[in-house]
Amino acid sequence: MGIKIIGSGHCVPATKLSNRHLESIVDTTDEWIFTRTGISSRYLVTTEDTNDLAYGAARCAIESAAIDPTEIGLIIVATFTPEQLTPSTACLVQARLGLNQQPVIAFDMNAACTGFVYALVTAEQFLKSSKIKKALVIGAEVLSKIMDWNDRSTCVLFGDGAGAVVIEWDEVDSPSFYLNCEGDGDVLGTSKLPVNNPLHQTGTSPISFHMNGASVFKFAVTAIKETVTTLLMENNLTLEEIDLIIPHQANKRIIDKVVKDLNASPEQFFLNVSEYGNTSAASIPIALNEAIKKQRIKAGNRVMLVGFGGGLTWGGCIVSI
Ligand code: COA
Repeated sequence: MGIKIIGSGHCVPATKLSNRHLESIVDTTDEWIFTRTGISSRYLVTTEDTNDLAYGAARCAIESAAIDPTEIGLIIVATFTPEQLTPSTACLVQARLGLNQQPVIAFDMNAACTGFVYALVTAEQFLKSSKIKKALVIGAEVLSKIMDWNDRSTCVLFGDGAGAVVIEWDEVDSPSFYLNCEGDGDVLGTSKLPVNNPLHQTGTSPISFHMNGASVFKFAVTAIKETVTTLLMENNLTLEEIDLIIPHQANKRIIDKVVKDLNASPEQFFLNVSEYGNTSAASIPIALNEAIKKQRIKAGNRVMLVGFGGGLTWGGCIVSI
């Protein structure tokens, strides 16, 4: 890609909920969740909301990039669980960073769990074709507010959180991304927003998330393999020439299957779903930040990010660190 990641950070709610704790809330067991998904815990908001997590991650990323926030000309937040429909989370983060007095482009994007990859690729196009030198790309979700807490096959999988990166244009590298989608609201999605106008009423049920677990599992494995092989082929690279693959963190068994099918080494795929659960658009930047902090990625490394999720959407990109 023509961008370089110069800073990263993440922010999660103060409250961590273990599988054992969840047993007292939902009809489930630690054993069921862990053996089927590799998830041990997740963070859930109490007083925080999407905008707080996005801002927290942004502050950490800016600090790690060691730049002045005023150098940022673009803010994109990938989310499908914003605090409010407008202003966008990106505009709220701009204000909290004290950037209201300078020209900034700021908007939210919704590509569900592929959102961060879509946002990063979009930011790259701005850096390539405008005078903007640095961008802040954030993935932030409070999924706990759209979960149906009576649907045990879904609510145990997800968590809240945010991750962010600061990027700048990197002339050296070549553009390399692959994005795709296939519109389908049945396999994975939310209920519809109610319409309640004087002429038509569709009710007041809260928004809730639904998914067909088995179909999503199959889709995810195919989507990751398609993305990895396409990116390698289009860039004349082999799997061994990628230092680390950071997939969307949904389920360890999905990654195990991909590793087996691609005849890859498990160490090539970074996983932290055990601690965070599936945080949708936040999962890749949270994992990326952890991989950097744990020195699984070092300066000069070539990293592949791979997302998949609602839409259906999927895709990935190769970035330099
Ligand atoms: N605790 C205990 N039991 C549960 C449960 C829970 N939280 N959720 C479901 N069950 C039960 C079901 O009622 C069902 O019981 P039954 O067989 O008596 O009807 C049984 O467990 C289903 O188990 P199984 O068929 O072994 O589940 P699975 O191996 O298909 O795993 C998922 C289910 C959801 C974990 C799996 O399909 C999955 O991970 N899919 C992908 C989901 C995903 O990643 N979505 C986000 C993508 S961005």
